[in-house]
Amino acid sequence: MSENPYLRSCVESNPGYVPGEQPRPGEMVKLNTNENPYPPSPRISEVYRNLDIGSLRMYPDPLCSQLRKTAARVWGVSDDMLVLGNGSDESLAMIMHACIELGDSVVFAEPTYSYYETITRLFGGKMVKVPCGPDFMPPENLAELRGKITFIASPNPPIGSFVSDQYIAEVCQGLMGKGVVVVDEAYTDFAGHSAIPLLKQYENMIVVRTLSKSYSLAGLRLGFAIGNPLIMEGIAKVRDPLNIDDVAQNVACIALDDQQHLKDNLEKVISERTRMREELMKRGFSVPESYGNFLFAAHHALPGIELLQRLRERKILVRHFKHQCISHGVRITIGTPEENNLLLQAIADINI
Ligand SMILES: Cc1ncc(COP(=O)(O)O)c(C=O)c1O
Repeated sequence: MSENPYLRSCVESNPGYVPGEQPRPGEMVKLNTNENPYPPSPRISEVYRNLDIGSLRMYPDPLCSQLRKTAARVWGVSDDMLVLGNGSDESLAMIMHACIELGDSVVFAEPTYSYYETITRLFGGKMVKVPCGPDFMPPENLAELRGKITFIASPNPPIGSFVSDQYIAEVCQGLMGKGVVVVDEAYTDFAGHSAIPLLKQYENMIVVRTLSKSYSLAGLRLGFAIGNPLIMEGIAKVRDPLNIDDVAQNVACIALDDQQHLKDNLEKVISERTRMREELMKRGFSVPESYGNFLFAAHHALPGIELLQRLRERKILVRHFKHQCISHGVRITIGTPEENNLLLQAIADINI
């Protein structure tokens, strides 16, 4: 029973998701929330430059027709397979809303994106958490846990491990007719591979994408759930029909159309990811291979929380997680070469 007479007990008892710190621009070197260090497509400026503010009195296109068409073309799916979210966090919540009854099992392997826990609690799901293996991969028996929803992030934060198509296919096969497998591909452009082609074979699979990371549009809030119309029709029903504003729809179309800009940015981030991993390892850090735009770095001589604090004193923000199997290190977002060099300089100053 809830002690607060006005709230659902699963809301009252939920600690809530705590997003990474957003200091004022320029205040800190910001390597804590996996934002892209490079700006989005310069073509987007035109939308804002030519904005007719009179058009804002009208509601946006509730079906987001143009945007769905553009996204469908980019990802090689049909537009009835797409439901848009105000950021992929909203896409994830909409999937829960559409697919979970109170007490249904929601399965995921930890460590992973902690928002899965938040929404499982909020929607009254029964949380079934299992540990990842020593290689930070989800265990083989995930389908046996019979999740009504099973979350698999690939690449999986905060480590950046990449889950193979074969693994995803096996989990989907094991849960066919029983539960939905959500493959969260927030970072997949940095891995250069997507599981989207598997959607043709597995009606119970949903891929979630975002423009926040690879397209440098975290501030715009655009997410996508992509799956079989059999499920997507239901997800469309729980969507706030006007959740994507008119400007965001236009901007997102332009960003998706500018594939060359995406490619150029990806190359820069990936090349810095390789360099930073080597540099950190040279300085005694253990850094598992990452397929995202971040690295997880741990040093045996300095606990993660202390490293976070010492970097913070030097105006560099990284992210620390309390979960026991990752609390020894920090997650570092890949920044520009200049930002990354400041981080390396700060580590030299700390003199571990
Ligand atoms: C794995 C994963 N999924 C989803 C999201 C949510 O991204 P957004 O709501 O900005 O699309 C994040 C954000 O960091 C993430 O790490």
